[in-house]
This record gives sequence, C-alpha cells and structure tokens, in this order.
Amino acid sequence: MRTAVYPGSFDPITIGHLDIIERASRLFDQVIVLVSRNPDKSPFFTVDARLGFISRAIAALPNVSADAFSGLLADYLKQRKATAIIKGLRAVSDFEYEFQMALANKTLDPAAETIFLAAQAKNMYLSSSLVRQIGALGGSIKGLVPVEIENDIQTALQEEIS
Ligand code: COA
Repeated sequence: MRTAVYPGSFDPITIGHLDIIERASRLFDQVIVLVSRNPDKSPFFTVDARLGFISRAIAALPNVSADAFSGLLADYLKQRKATAIIKGLRAVSDFEYEFQMALANKTLDPAAETIFLAAQAKNMYLSSSLVRQIGALGGSIKGLVPVEIENDIQTALQEEIS
C-alpha cells in the first residue's frame, strides 16, 4: 500500500489543489489531504471548515481522504506509514521554498520522498489568498474553487465584508 500525504493550509481548497489531488490519486494507492499548520499564516477558515470543504470536494475520489494535524509533517508521515509528500509547483518562484521544505522533511524522516507535480498552466496564478481576496471584495469565485463548495465559500467570504 503506497500512501502519499498532500499537506497545505487549504484556506480554502482551490481547483488548483483539486487538480493535484486527482493526479496524485492516480499515482498512489491512498492519498491523504492534510490540513497542516503553517506557523507563518493566520488562517481565515477554521480547521473544521477547511476539512469540511476538502471532504466535499474529494467525495468522488475513493482512495482520497482528508485529515488535520498541527504537528510536524514528518511525524504524521511516520504515524500513517506514508512514504511520499505531494507538493504542487506553480512557478519557478515556488521552487526554492519547496526545495528547502523537502530537504528539511527528508532530514526529519529519511523515508520521506517529496514528489512535485507541476500545476496546470491555467492554475498557475491561483492561490487561496487570491480566492479570499476576490470573494471578500464582492467578486465571483466561480471556477476558482470546486463547484460543490463554491456557494458556501462565497457566502462566508462575503459575510466578512458585510
Ligand atoms: N493550486 C492553487 N494554489 C496552490 C497550489 C495549486 N496547485 N499549490 C500551492 N498553492 C497555493 C496555496 O493555496 C498557498 O496559497 P496562500 O499563500 O494564498 O495561502 C500558496 O500556494 C503556498 O502553498 P504552500 O507552499 O503549500 O503553503 P501552505 O501554507 O499551503 O502549506 C505547509 C505549508 C502547511 C505544508 C507547511 O507549512 C508544513 O508542512 N507545515 C507542517 C509543519 C512542519 O512540518 N513544518 C516543517 C516542515 S520542514
């Protein structure tokens, strides 16, 4: 059983994330989308809300599940006997940071291999904060987040400004 973990803040999950998840699900027996803690960020959505959005977005993918963990990613991998970390690369600018993280995770868990999947060209500009900004300022996030959760995210972001 080959298990991969796709960690991120997912604040919220976007269609760019979902694309990476779908492609990873074809490469591994099991993929866990892990809402993880980035100490440099203060998330807008609660962990439960982010998990709920992810669960609805992955409902059609039988070998994908969602979980949350606030500790070190390397410790989670060992707990779940996962050997791969999935990360999406949108541009060269992502690489330096991701390479540093991959080396740090490898030091913490020598069995961990980081696999980089290139984002599709149409998603290269996309990020969770861009979605939050568009939604909070009254713009449409249609096509930027999975269709099942579009309305709920739009409503939550609009409530923020009203
Ligand atoms: N499509 C769309 N957006 C994407 C994307 C894709 N394919 N890939 C990345 N992004 C966006 C993310 O939404 C995020 O947007 P934001 O900055 O607006 O929130 C941005 O690109 C950066 O993504 P990422 O580099 O994955 O950062 P993150 O905050 O989502 O996740 C963690 C970072 C949580 C994975 C990392 O901090 C971590 O591993 N934490 C656990 C603790 C730990 O082990 N730390 C030490 C590691 S050595």
